Amino acid sequence: MNQSVLHVKNLNKIYGKKNENQFHALMDVSFDINQGEFVGIMGPSGAGKTTLLHVISTLDNATNGTIEIAGTSITKMKQKQLADFRSEQLGFIFQDFNLLENLTVYENIALPLSLQGVASRKIKPSVHNVAKKLGIEAILEKYPVTISGGQKQRAAAARALVHEPAMILADEPTGALDSKNAKSLMEALVHLNENHDTSIMLVTHDPLSASYCQRILFIQDGELYKEIHRKNSRTAFHQEILDVLAEFAE
Ligand SMILES: Nc1ncnc2c1ncn2[C@@H]1O[C@H](COP(=O)(O)OP(=O)(O)O)[C@@H](O)[C@H]1O
Ligand SMILES: [Mg+2]
Repeated sequence: MNQSVLHVKNLNKIYGKKNENQFHALMDVSFDINQGEFVGIMGPSGAGKTTLLHVISTLDNATNGTIEIAGTSITKMKQKQLADFRSEQLGFIFQDFNLLENLTVYENIALPLSLQGVASRKIKPSVHNVAKKLGIEAILEKYPVTISGGQKQRAAAARALVHEPAMILADEPTGALDSKNAKSLMEALVHLNENHDTSIMLVTHDPLSASYCQRILFIQDGELYKEIHRKNSRTAFHQEILDVLAEFAE
């Protein structure tokens, strides 16, 4: 049986207090992501993608509804608990890499473990292991300014994975990459997903990046609009994604 890594049920997010101008950004959104799945979130600008990612990543509160990550409900957790949960169970990849410039690639990747107080002799094998998965062992001693955008994003992906989180959340990870580096990052994510059973939720507006996912959830005006699964080739899936996006434009 498929095990759910993310369970979202009747999720609502309303911005603004009562008596103020309120905005209902998410309306009764429900879906699951199974362990080992690679799922994309797409939809027009203002649909609620970033809101959804923020609420799932515990960076913002839901107004109501249920979110369970690896079997743990996060909707009623207190701030301190949430911070611990986030640093242990989630890995983040952002558009702008967010690498610390005064740390080497090695030190950047090690950061989530250092912050958790893991002993440095235990950190080393973890960093090398994840660097190997992403093909960046040769640049571990370099500083971010000296490596390419594509290498930076692989380093960021390695940092997101080093503490073996339940799930990776990626927000437009190819947004700052040229098409060649975007392709190689997506291939690296597919590799992690297929060979290491990494569960990934990817928010993107780029149909080509999305075509690497196994399943896409489309949201529009805060509601789940449609869901499509990849059946055969990535090229056919790319076209299918373009067709759904064209429905929004109509
Ligand atoms: N802090 C906020 N206060 C009020 N409205 C917001 C806030 N953040 C986002 N919104 C509104 O919620 C809707 C969804 O925004 P967002 O989640 O950023 O969409 P997307 O990422 O899909 O472009 C938009 O209409 C936006 O204006
Ligand atoms: Mg957004």
